[in-house]
Amino acid sequence: MKYYLAPLEGITTYIYRNAYHSIFLPMDKYFTPFLVPKQKKSLSRREINDILPEHNQGLFLVPQLLTNRAEDFIRAAQTLMDYGYKEINLNLGCPSGTVVSKGKGAGFLARPVELERFLDEIFSKLTIRISIKTRIGVEDPEEFETLLPIFCRYPLEELIIHPRVREDYYKNPPNLLAFEKAMGESGNTVCYNGNIFSMGDCEDLQKRFPKLASVMLGRGSIANPELHRECVEKNFLEPKRKTEQFSQLHTLLYQNYQDILSGERNVLFKMKEIWSYMIQSFSNYEPYAKRIRKAETLRNYEIAVHALFREQEVTSYGRFSF
Ligand SMILES: Cc1cc2nc3c(=O)[nH]c(=O)nc-3n(C[C@H](O)[C@H](O)[C@H](O)COP(=O)(O)O)c2cc1C
Repeated sequence: MKYYLAPLEGITTYIYRNAYHSIFLPMDKYFTPFLVPKQKKSLSRREINDILPEHNQGLFLVPQLLTNRAEDFIRAAQTLMDYGYKEINLNLGCPSGTVVSKGKGAGFLARPVELERFLDEIFSKLTIRISIKTRIGVEDPEEFETLLPIFCRYPLEELIIHPRVREDYYKNPPNLLAFEKAMGESGNTVCYNGNIFSMGDCEDLQKRFPKLASVMLGRGSIANPELHRECVEKNFLEPKRKTEQFSQLHTLLYQNYQDILSGERNVLFKMKEIWSYMIQSFSNYEPYAKRIRKAETLRNYEIAVHALFREQEVTSYGRFSF
């Protein structure tokens, strides 16, 4: 089975992907958080920075686009091809209100006729490989009965399914029955995404879907970056060794974000976002989580993080609450 790192906006930046890749078992594919192609202009400086080949050396990176305008998608795809990319991904899952209200992300799923026209146009005009990351509907899983046949009409590189509807956001159990049906009926290769937080979750998924080609790990891998290796090799490292690896990851992220971000506040914001997931892997983490959250200077932040690494170990095996 292949393993992918999910795109998480604000978290899985090129800084994060490189740091992860140099310490933990490399993923088969990494996806950028969504890039939003603008009318006329293609991508922003920040977005280009995230996909620059020199910032992603040795990684299999798939840039993800979020738009419902075929001409903007095509223009951004051409920019990405100029940078050497041979595969891109379309975001049909983002549940955020501002995105959905514009008919993008999961909001595009409510407009199947327009969606089909969009796909017709991009598939007829582009030669680059295109995959889709989708939810199963906006409000009702039954919507997938209409959507899946549309996806089946195109030669997708793969169809990544997060089997929730938009209204679920990231809560409620993933709908495995809907996923099972999609696997049976999709002519395209299917990838599973959603709530894989432990080695046990991975094993259950493989037992239920023995033919599954790939799984995309999101919050589970941010909370426990060892998750991919644990799923593949089916063992756990000693807590001490695992804690050392988390510390190496933290050092790389902290140094590299200080190099590229201006001002303590921005660095603290980034690091706190990552800690909101990763802290849950530590023993007795609550008081440390509070100290990290409350730190308003890099100095106080460092004191809190050093105390955590000195006094606690990585012990959790996937009992996270996100
Ligand atoms: C903070 C956050 C940011 C996300 N950003 C993106 C994104 O940019 N593109 C995307 O397709 N999905 C995004 N997602 C969804 C994840 O890629 C993934 O589908 C979701 O978290 C479910 O998988 P998980 O249960 O393994 O985390 C985001 C999710 C979270 C929590």
